[in-house]
Amino acid sequence: MTKIAPSILSADFAKLGEEIKDVERGGADYIHVDVMDGHFVPNITIGPLIADAIQPITKLPLDVHLMIENPDAYIPLFAKSASIITVHQEACVHLHRTLQLIRSYDVKPGVVINPGTPAEMIKPILPEVDLVLLMTVNPGFGGQAFIKEVIPKVAQIAAWRDEMGLDFEIEIDGGVNEETASICTANGADVLVAGSAIFNQENRKEAMDEIRAGAEK
Ligand code: DX5
Ligand code: ZN
Repeated sequence: MTKIAPSILSADFAKLGEEIKDVERGGADYIHVDVMDGHFVPNITIGPLIADAIQPITKLPLDVHLMIENPDAYIPLFAKSASIITVHQEACVHLHRTLQLIRSYDVKPGVVINPGTPAEMIKPILPEVDLVLLMTVNPGFGGQAFIKEVIPKVAQIAAWRDEMGLDFEIEIDGGVNEETASICTANGADVLVAGSAIFNQENRKEAMDEIRAGAEK
């Protein structure tokens, strides 16, 4: 079954703990934590203190998406609470080394590419990752429209996974809702991140059920 990773970027930060428990009760698989530094992307969000605070209140793995420059400097801090850390290919001069750094902390390494980055940029490092995250919006904000031109990259990454005999998960982030979910899973996605489509609805379980139903179409 398709995994759902609610992005807490669209949650009510004044009651973040309750928001996380709400999606956990509703059947979420991961908690997606969007970390932005105001340099790599034009927004500032969550730091390691928040990740440390939420980790003990949920049984779900924290899927920490680093949208920051120089991620190597912050990986040791997020490794305390994260189960998965994803770094942007565009932010890593020595991507292979950064992925190994994540694994050295017993955290699952993942790589992310922006909509404008070709899939070929990450082909050589696919054997190093537990997860590939494909952005279907330009990172920085929740609530943006899904960029469908990214979909051929999903199929390409899934084909390489088969050819190379690898078993990383393919995750999609940005503009995912009950309508856009099916094209993602039909092309090989395993995990769907959704922020506004879940937290902007009062009943989060219903929202996640709708996305999953869309994903199975
Ligand atoms: C975008 C973030 C996403 C975002 C998704 O920069 O990486 O995780 O929160 O939000 P929606 O689902 O609203 O596009
Ligand atoms: Zn994200």
